Amino acid sequence: MIIHTQRLCLRPWSDADAPALFELARDPRIGMLCGWKPYERIDDAHEALSTFLAAPDSYAVTLSSTGELVGSIALRIDTDSPEATVADIGYWIGAPYWGNGYASEAGRAIIERARELGVETIILKYFDGNDASRRVSEKLGFTWRSREEGVEYPLIGKHLTVHCTELALAAH
Ligand SMILES: CC(C)(COP(=O)(O)OP(=O)(O)OC[C@H]1O[C@@H](n2cnc3c(N)ncnc32)[C@H](O)[C@@H]1OP(=O)(O)O)[C@@H](O)C(=O)NCCC(=O)NCCS
Repeated sequence: MIIHTQRLCLRPWSDADAPALFELARDPRIGMLCGWKPYERIDDAHEALSTFLAAPDSYAVTLSSTGELVGSIALRIDTDSPEATVADIGYWIGAPYWGNGYASEAGRAIIERARELGVETIILKYFDGNDASRRVSEKLGFTWRSREEGVEYPLIGKHLTVHCTELALAAH
Protein backbone atom coordinates (compact mmCIF):
# COMPACT_ATOMS: atom_id res chain seq x y z
CA MET A 1 0.00 0.00 0.00
CA ILE A 2 1.37 3.40 -1.00
CA ILE A 3 -0.24 6.58 0.31
CA HIS A 4 0.32 9.94 -1.35
CA THR A 5 -0.29 13.23 0.42
CA GLN A 6 0.41 16.76 -0.73
CA ARG A 7 4.16 16.53 -0.06
CA LEU A 8 4.76 13.00 1.17
CA CYS A 9 4.76 9.45 -0.02
CA LEU A 10 4.12 6.80 2.66
CA ARG A 11 5.37 3.46 1.40
CA PRO A 12 6.42 0.08 2.75
CA TRP A 13 9.99 -0.11 4.03
CA SER A 14 12.67 -1.90 2.05
CA ASP A 15 16.02 -3.21 3.21
CA ALA A 16 17.58 -0.60 0.91
CA ASP A 17 16.38 2.03 3.41
CA ALA A 18 18.89 0.78 6.00
CA PRO A 19 21.58 3.49 5.53
CA ALA A 20 19.12 6.40 5.55
CA LEU A 21 17.19 4.88 8.44
CA PHE A 22 20.39 4.41 10.41
CA GLU A 23 21.41 8.06 9.90
CA LEU A 24 18.11 9.34 11.32
CA ALA A 25 17.57 6.72 14.02
CA ARG A 26 21.06 7.01 15.53
CA ASP A 27 19.99 10.41 16.92
CA PRO A 28 19.10 9.83 20.61
CA ARG A 29 16.33 12.43 20.37
CA ILE A 30 14.24 9.99 18.32
CA GLY A 31 14.28 6.58 19.99
CA MET A 32 14.31 7.79 23.57
CA LEU A 33 10.95 9.47 22.95
CA CYS A 34 9.58 6.37 21.20
CA GLY A 35 10.76 3.78 23.70
CA TRP A 36 13.71 2.26 21.84
CA LYS A 37 17.46 2.71 21.97
CA PRO A 38 19.20 4.92 19.41
CA TYR A 39 20.73 2.77 16.69
CA GLU A 40 24.42 2.14 17.19
CA ARG A 41 25.22 0.23 14.03
CA ILE A 42 23.72 -0.37 10.61
CA ASP A 43 22.64 -3.86 11.74
CA ASP A 44 20.17 -2.20 14.09
CA ALA A 45 18.49 -0.76 11.00
CA HIS A 46 18.51 -4.12 9.20
CA GLU A 47 17.02 -5.78 12.25
CA ALA A 48 14.22 -3.22 12.57
CA LEU A 49 13.50 -3.50 8.85
CA SER A 50 13.13 -7.27 9.08
CA THR A 51 10.95 -7.20 12.21
CA PHE A 52 8.62 -4.43 13.40
CA LEU A 53 9.06 -2.13 10.40
CA ALA A 54 7.96 -5.06 8.21
CA ALA A 55 4.58 -5.18 9.99
CA PRO A 56 1.40 -4.37 8.06
CA ASP A 57 0.68 -0.65 7.82
CA SER A 58 4.16 0.36 8.86
CA TYR A 59 5.35 3.04 6.45
CA ALA A 60 8.52 4.84 5.48
CA VAL A 61 7.64 8.53 5.26
CA THR A 62 9.43 9.98 2.25
CA LEU A 63 9.38 13.28 0.38
CA SER A 64 7.51 13.02 -2.90
CA SER A 65 9.82 15.59 -4.50
CA THR A 66 13.14 13.84 -3.83
CA GLY A 67 12.27 10.40 -2.47
CA GLU A 68 14.40 11.00 0.62
CA LEU A 69 13.46 9.30 3.86
CA VAL A 70 12.16 11.71 6.52
CA GLY A 71 10.58 9.42 9.09
CA SER A 72 8.32 6.58 10.06
CA ILE A 73 4.64 6.10 10.83
CA ALA A 74 2.70 2.98 11.71
CA LEU A 75 -0.80 1.94 12.46
CA ARG A 76 -1.07 -1.12 14.67
CA ILE A 77 -4.44 -2.75 14.90
CA ASP A 78 -5.17 -4.41 18.21
CA THR A 79 -5.73 -8.00 17.14
CA ASP A 80 -6.82 -8.99 20.65
CA SER A 81 -10.06 -7.20 20.03
CA PRO A 82 -12.07 -9.48 17.73
CA GLU A 83 -13.77 -6.61 15.93
CA ALA A 84 -10.37 -5.07 15.19
CA THR A 85 -11.79 -1.64 15.86
CA VAL A 86 -8.99 -0.26 18.02
CA ALA A 87 -5.57 0.73 16.70
CA ASP A 88 -2.67 2.78 17.89
CA ILE A 89 -0.34 4.98 15.93
CA GLY A 90 3.34 5.62 16.40
CA TYR A 91 5.57 7.96 14.46
CA TRP A 92 8.81 9.86 14.35
CA ILE A 93 10.35 12.38 12.01
CA GLY A 94 14.14 12.69 11.63
CA ALA A 95 15.56 15.75 13.40
CA PRO A 96 16.72 17.55 10.21
CA TYR A 97 13.09 17.56 9.05
CA TRP A 98 11.30 18.74 12.20
CA GLY A 99 8.97 21.70 12.11
CA ASN A 100 7.70 21.29 8.56
CA GLY A 101 4.34 19.78 9.41
CA TYR A 102 5.39 16.33 8.14
CA ALA A 103 4.21 14.40 11.22
CA SER A 104 0.81 16.08 11.03
CA GLU A 105 0.54 15.46 7.28
CA ALA A 106 1.50 11.80 7.62
CA GLY A 107 -0.79 11.50 10.65
CA ARG A 108 -3.80 12.75 8.72
CA ALA A 109 -3.10 10.18 6.00
CA ILE A 110 -2.80 7.32 8.47
CA ILE A 111 -6.07 8.33 10.10
CA GLU A 112 -7.75 8.03 6.70
CA ARG A 113 -6.14 4.63 6.23
CA ALA A 114 -7.49 3.55 9.63
CA ARG A 115 -10.95 4.72 8.65
CA GLU A 116 -10.76 2.60 5.46
CA LEU A 117 -9.78 -0.41 7.55
CA GLY A 118 -12.84 0.03 9.75
CA VAL A 119 -10.95 1.21 12.82
CA GLU A 120 -13.27 3.02 15.19
CA THR A 121 -10.83 4.26 17.82
CA ILE A 122 -7.21 5.31 17.43
CA ILE A 123 -4.93 5.65 20.43
CA LEU A 124 -1.88 7.90 20.39
CA LYS A 125 0.49 7.84 23.37
CA TYR A 126 3.38 10.14 24.20
CA PHE A 127 5.77 10.49 27.10
CA ASP A 128 5.24 13.27 29.62
CA GLY A 129 7.18 16.32 28.43
CA ASN A 130 7.07 15.45 24.73
CA ASP A 131 5.38 18.71 23.81
CA ALA A 132 5.96 18.34 20.06
CA SER A 133 4.09 15.05 20.03
CA ARG A 134 1.38 16.43 22.31
CA ARG A 135 0.94 19.22 19.78
CA VAL A 136 0.78 16.74 16.87
CA SER A 137 -1.94 14.81 18.69
CA GLU A 138 -3.89 18.04 19.24
CA LYS A 139 -3.52 19.08 15.61
CA LEU A 140 -4.80 15.67 14.51
CA GLY A 141 -7.89 16.10 16.68
CA PHE A 142 -7.06 13.60 19.42
CA THR A 143 -8.57 14.11 22.88
CA TRP A 144 -6.53 13.63 26.05
CA ARG A 145 -7.86 10.65 28.01
CA SER A 146 -5.48 9.61 30.74
CA ARG A 147 -2.05 9.70 32.27
CA GLU A 148 -0.27 6.58 33.39
CA GLU A 149 2.69 6.74 35.74
CA GLY A 150 5.62 4.36 35.89
CA VAL A 151 5.07 2.51 32.62
CA GLU A 152 8.02 0.22 31.95
CA TYR A 153 9.96 0.61 28.70
CA PRO A 154 12.42 -2.29 28.86
CA LEU A 155 14.31 -1.39 25.67
CA ILE A 156 15.47 1.89 27.21
CA GLY A 157 15.43 0.65 30.82
CA LYS A 158 13.08 3.36 32.06
CA HIS A 159 9.77 3.81 33.83
CA LEU A 160 7.99 6.80 32.36
CA THR A 161 4.78 8.78 32.62
CA VAL A 162 2.69 8.33 29.49
CA HIS A 163 -0.22 10.39 28.22
CA CYS A 164 -2.90 8.55 26.30
CA THR A 165 -4.98 10.40 23.72
CA GLU A 166 -7.78 9.06 21.61
CA LEU A 167 -9.59 9.78 18.35
CA ALA A 168 -13.02 8.34 17.63
CA LEU A 169 -13.63 7.81 13.93
CA ALA A 170 -17.15 8.22 12.69
CA ALA A 171 -18.70 4.94 11.58
CA HIS A 172 -19.55 4.72 7.88
C1 LIG B 1 7.05 14.69 17.47
C2 LIG B 1 7.57 14.77 16.02
C3 LIG B 1 7.15 13.53 15.28
C4 LIG B 1 6.99 16.00 15.35
O1 LIG B 1 7.39 16.01 13.98
P1 LIG B 1 7.20 17.30 13.06
O2 LIG B 1 7.17 16.86 11.66
O3 LIG B 1 8.21 18.31 13.45
O4 LIG B 1 5.74 17.76 13.52
P2 LIG B 1 4.82 18.89 12.89
O5 LIG B 1 5.69 19.91 12.22
O6 LIG B 1 3.73 18.24 12.11
O7 LIG B 1 4.12 19.52 14.20
C5 LIG B 1 4.88 19.77 15.34
C6 LIG B 1 4.11 20.77 16.19
O8 LIG B 1 4.70 20.79 17.48
C7 LIG B 1 5.17 22.08 17.77
N1 LIG B 1 6.35 21.92 18.59
C8 LIG B 1 7.55 21.47 18.22
N2 LIG B 1 8.38 21.45 19.29
C9 LIG B 1 7.65 21.87 20.35
C10 LIG B 1 7.93 22.06 21.72
N3 LIG B 1 9.12 21.77 22.24
N4 LIG B 1 6.93 22.52 22.52
C11 LIG B 1 5.69 22.79 22.02
N5 LIG B 1 5.38 22.62 20.70
C12 LIG B 1 6.35 22.16 19.89
C13 LIG B 1 5.42 22.73 16.44
O9 LIG B 1 5.42 24.13 16.53
C14 LIG B 1 4.22 22.18 15.64
O10 LIG B 1 3.02 22.84 15.99
P3 LIG B 1 2.42 24.04 15.09
O11 LIG B 1 2.20 23.47 13.72
O12 LIG B 1 1.17 24.40 15.79
O13 LIG B 1 3.46 25.12 15.08
C15 LIG B 1 9.13 14.90 16.01
O14 LIG B 1 9.49 15.99 16.81
C16 LIG B 1 9.82 13.66 16.48
O15 LIG B 1 9.97 12.70 15.74
N6 LIG B 1 10.27 13.64 17.75
C17 LIG B 1 11.02 12.53 18.30
C18 LIG B 1 10.25 11.21 18.29
C19 LIG B 1 8.87 11.35 18.85
O16 LIG B 1 8.63 12.10 19.76
N7 LIG B 1 7.94 10.60 18.28
C20 LIG B 1 6.58 10.57 18.76
C21 LIG B 1 6.48 9.65 19.91
S1 LIG B 1 4.85 9.71 20.63
